Amino acid sequence: MAFSLSWRLVRVVRLAERSCDPIRRLLSVSSFFFAKKIIPFKLSDIGEGIRDVTVKEWFVKPGDQVKQFDDICEVQSDKASVTITSRYDGLIKTLYYKIDDVALVGSTLLDFEIDDLTDAVRDDAEKSEISLDKVEPETITLKKEKVLSTPAVKRIAKENNIKLTDVKATGKDGRVLKEDILAHLQRISVDPSVKIPSSMTGRTVELKGYTKHMWKTMTKSLTIPHFVYSDECNVDQVMRYRNDVKDSLMKRDISLTFMPFFIKAASRALEQYPQLNAWLDEKTQQLQLLDNHNIGIAMDTPNGLIVPNIKNVQNLSIFAIAQELNRLQKDGSKASISYADVSYTTFTLSNIGTIGGTFMKPIIVSPQVIIGAFGKARKLPRFDNEGNVIPVNIMSISWSADHRVIDGVTVARFSNLWKYYVENPMHLLICP
Ligand code: COA
Repeated sequence: MAFSLSWRLVRVVRLAERSCDPIRRLLSVSSFFFAKKIIPFKLSDIGEGIRDVTVKEWFVKPGDQVKQFDDICEVQSDKASVTITSRYDGLIKTLYYKIDDVALVGSTLLDFEIDDLTDAVRDDAEKSEISLDKVEPETITLKKEKVLSTPAVKRIAKENNIKLTDVKATGKDGRVLKEDILAHLQRISVDPSVKIPSSMTGRTVELKGYTKHMWKTMTKSLTIPHFVYSDECNVDQVMRYRNDVKDSLMKRDISLTFMPFFIKAASRALEQYPQLNAWLDEKTQQLQLLDNHNIGIAMDTPNGLIVPNIKNVQNLSIFAIAQELNRLQKDGSKASISYADVSYTTFTLSNIGTIGGTFMKPIIVSPQVIIGAFGKARKLPRFDNEGNVIPVNIMSISWSADHRVIDGVTVARFSNLWKYYVENPMHLLICP
């Protein structure tokens, strides 16, 4: 609707500009230029199939004067955070969402008051790719957008607290039908039949942000037959190396944990088993083996679980991996992980051992074909080569692989190699 409004305005300017009568032309153009106009600023499509976002922060308030490209607000989708910037110079009139409200793509985020519409309108018209010549000048209105529907449909929308402008209309001339409201309700609601009975008390919590993404990916994962393989690993050496250097690295503001060793060990083992650093295309039944080891790290953040990745681990040192992990943890704690950081993961690791646990069954994230999870490292009694009982720091590792394309022996061999690198970390230190 913003576009249709915009290109109609451009049409007026162009018609006026083309007019032979110079006075009429001057009047048309100048009255158009100098009147202040209110225009809606919509949440445009941010790709990746995202249908809604949660408003996390407003950087503006009504009455603020902003310039093109100024930050307007921070929104969070089920995948990452995005800063929305202004497309116009103008005055903020009305904000339509509060912090933590969910905004649908295409809905109006705020209204702008604009002095000089020409640039903004011309831009929008260009983007809309609509032939300006098809528009009649008398159709121009600057009213707020009006949505066509019947009183019965409006009542259903009101009862369900739905703005008609947020609903995708499928009726004639953009009319919102009852089916559109029902489809919209289905999209935005958790199963409406699950209600807390009046005999009980409790509260309803909306699923949003990262949790909503988890719902989608995990539901898809249910279709994958998981082959699960677990083993234990001696982490004495890794602990020794880490303890030797962690204080000096801390002085350089780098926190070195066990994770960079585990990540690098995975990358080195993947060099031998490239079929595990792969995406499965279910449609074509092809496996795409990837040269980039973009290793995803399951991360517990104040906003829930998110899995950013460290790109091209095959080329990174343990130090560089630690730096990157620190950066992602910092961004995760501020809910500001970018799309780039969550895109193109080829392999995933989950260290739930920071909290506890021994063995687990991690869940594969499609289209990847394997995931690993670590339990908590603990000092446990084990036999040495002479049969003496000695204390050893033991950590469990559990792998889940997509059994449609990966057989158990491959997983076991890969796990053995990963374990070899972790138990002999010197091999990880001498190459990038
Ligand atoms: N066993 C014992 N101790 C462990 C450990 C393990 N498996 N993993 C980490 N630790 C220790 C670290 O060495 C560090 O010790 P320190 O206090 O002496 O420095 C401490 O626990 C905290 O480590 P942390 O800061 O969390 O860093 P990390 O690099 O080990 O882990 C993440 C980073 C992102 C993986 C971790 O913070 C995290 O979010 N884990 C949860 C993952 C998750 O949610 N998985 C479930 C998915 S469904």
